[in-house]
Amino acid sequence: MSKTTAAITAVGGYVPKFVLTNNMLEDMVDTNDEWIISRTGIKERRVLKPEEGQGTSYLAIKAAEDLIQKKNIDPKEIDLVIIATATPDSMVASTAAFVASEIGAVNAFAYDLLAACSSFLFGMSTAASYIESGRYKKVLLIGADKMSSIIDYTDRTTCIIFGDGAGAALFEPNEEGLGLQDEYLRADGTGRQFLGMDAGGSLMPATEETVKNRKHFIYQEGRTVFKFAVSNMANVAETIMKRNNLEHTDVSWLVPHQANKRIIDATANRMGLEDSKVLMNIERYGNTTSATLPLLLADFESQMKKGDNLVFAAFGGGFTWGSIYLKWAY
Ligand code: UT7
Repeated sequence: MSKTTAAITAVGGYVPKFVLTNNMLEDMVDTNDEWIISRTGIKERRVLKPEEGQGTSYLAIKAAEDLIQKKNIDPKEIDLVIIATATPDSMVASTAAFVASEIGAVNAFAYDLLAACSSFLFGMSTAASYIESGRYKKVLLIGADKMSSIIDYTDRTTCIIFGDGAGAALFEPNEEGLGLQDEYLRADGTGRQFLGMDAGGSLMPATEETVKNRKHFIYQEGRTVFKFAVSNMANVAETIMKRNNLEHTDVSWLVPHQANKRIIDATANRMGLEDSKVLMNIERYGNTTSATLPLLLADFESQMKKGDNLVFAAFGGGFTWGSIYLKWAY
């Protein structure tokens, strides 16, 4: 009997309507369009405006609904909903539980998975394991982040990079050997000082001081994070290729976290890939944290063919990073 693998059988995506352009940011902080494009590759990003009164769940629900409608599935058949995110609606109550109820996945259990920009990548491993074990048949993994809720729009080192969005992927059993093939996932907690948000957790609960000192916004030591990201993302992608005897000609698509075009280019270079195989939408959305990978799948779904070899790679806060090799199933 052939081994059951875990395949992605449907994807969906959503970004908010409001477009925050580089030119608009020029009016908010000391920056310019040319610098942002040349240093990051970003031209614009989407923002869920505060006056809409919605959290990350809103983005996740829209992405899930897009998937459900395209695939025409009955949400009652979904066994598990995982929300990969760095910006849950609130502490304590699971955002995924709310999303599951709202989309009609009334028979599912649900929880959130937090690993900064690697949340979706690590979630792929989690979702696939449930399927491979035979325990569940339909796992909905959603990467969603309302980064604008933790961005300081007076800090030019972060506000130019991040945007809001969500993407969803359905994992189901496959008997043809398609789906997740291999993974190489890493973490190094010494990195938490270089990228994160100081206050609002159990270590530094909210006080008047933390608000006054802008500790509820994300910070990053860009240059240090860049150095770690650029070498580690390339390293893990190279490891996955070697371990699976993949030559550059065998790789159909690189699906890289969208943090900085220069990091993506370095990873693709190390893998020996031409530009046409590198999925990118950073110019339109910026860095949507947990949503970058599934949004790429949603945007480029029509170009993928059954049996295509996809290499995912991500790097994020924590530090957390890794690579996954997956065969496209439809
Ligand atoms: O997704 C999670 C993981 N995150 C990442 O992978 C992000 C990794 N880091 C980066 O992508 C880059 O480090 C940034 C895009 C954040 C910054 O680019 P950089 O090339 O590393 O710039 P830098 O911080 O080394 O700064 C270079 C110069 C500095 O000026 P001086 O000291 O050379 O005079 C900065 O003050 O650029 C200046 N600068 C800016 N100028 C215009 C920094 N931010 C800006 C800005 N506009 N927004």
